[in-house]
Amino acid sequence: MDDAVLRTIAERFGTPTYVYDLRRVRSQWNALRTAFPGARLLYAVKANPSGAVLRALAHLGAGAEVITLGELERAVRAGIGPADVLVGGPGQDAGLVGRASELGVGLASLDSAGTWRGWQAAGGESTRFLVRVNPGLDPGTHEHLATGAAASKFGLPPEPALALAREVRAAGRLAGFHVHAGSMIRDPAVYEAVHAVLAPLYRALPGLDLVDLGGGFAVPDGPLTAFGARAGAVARALGASLAIEPGRSLVAEAGTLLTRVLHVKPEGPRRHVIADAGMADLLRPALYGAEHPIRVVASRNPTEGGPAEAPDGPLSDLDGPLCENADRLGRDRRLPPVAPGDLLAVEQAGAYGFAMASNYASSLRPAEVVVDDGAMQPAWEGRVAGPGEGPVVRLVRRRERPEDLWRLEIDTDPR
Ligand code: LLP
Repeated sequence: MDDAVLRTIAERFGTPTYVYDLRRVRSQWNALRTAFPGARLLYAVKANPSGAVLRALAHLGAGAEVITLGELERAVRAGIGPADVLVGGPGQDAGLVGRASELGVGLASLDSAGTWRGWQAAGGESTRFLVRVNPGLDPGTHEHLATGAAASKFGLPPEPALALAREVRAAGRLAGFHVHAGSMIRDPAVYEAVHAVLAPLYRALPGLDLVDLGGGFAVPDGPLTAFGARAGAVARALGASLAIEPGRSLVAEAGTLLTRVLHVKPEGPRRHVIADAGMADLLRPALYGAEHPIRVVASRNPTEGGPAEAPDGPLSDLDGPLCENADRLGRDRRLPPVAPGDLLAVEQAGAYGFAMASNYASSLRPAEVVVDDGAMQPAWEGRVAGPGEGPVVRLVRRRERPEDLWRLEIDTDPR
């Protein structure tokens, strides 16, 4: 995202702040549309549930994949029609299933026989079902993201999946099968293995009309066109139409976390740059060892600033402010020299960024801002350039304040 825009946002709204470029969300949508022609695109809301992002996707015609009551309500509130919603996930408690049945969601993915019992008890009639299969493959990704591995907690092995599917079919409610091979997958050949698992199931139950191959395309540089070609071939071979559930690939690259340098400690074996954002704001480096690109956006010493990590800069860790050694935004980075007050952009942070932010150590969750083209609306904060020029910037969620931390507490000892 343009540095002038990022600097203006940091000055106006402070740091840490998440910035989402809705123009980039739209271009990713178009890229997926082109790569997966004719497929149903169900946005995995968990990646970024911001109302502004959801409304933009709803406008584009996206459906939604939701796994909690909160995600369901958010999707519908943003204008995604219940018929275009798929309820997934291994939990699916009575509250979620009851509300989904009342709304008449179009699809649900059954992770177990128990989830089917729950839907039967809820009694809705408009929902059709996919049975989630555990393909037992190695998707070549981080263990936490290997949802298609045999040892993962997801889906049913092919035999019990078929037994459950027969039961759902007997009730006249079966649409097909569902596999989410893993997240951050890079190799489209994974669909070959998925096809090998699904083909006998579709042969055993002729006439199924849908196959859902999940999401999981790696960012950056996930080969969307190749994924689309292979997924399309799988669906054709099964005689079904295709649904996919992209999360990260729609929103990750549209998002930037702005953070300022608080302190620099050059003294030890490693230079430590301490920022005002850390694991409470962006958990991915701590939890998955994720490597987000880090840029200097504004430096007090212009000769010291730089567009990117500097190959000859000192080896640095970019640390968060909390008392825990996992609290890092980046390790072993060649950052250019930075000073307190410098503004950094942590990139590719639009997916599973704010979505996984917490109040750990009573941290206040960041503000969220969107950048977009378009007409100024009354609620919008303003333009970066003059009237009618440049992108529009809008605060879509204010930074939390200390009183937000105890807003929901019930005071048992009022003074
Ligand atoms: N469909 C299902 C059934 C899923 O479980 C997921 C993600 C998706 C779709 C969307 O996957 P995506 O296209 O976003 O990779 N917190 C982790 C990611 C966990 C993903 C879990 N499931 C991270 O920050 O990398």
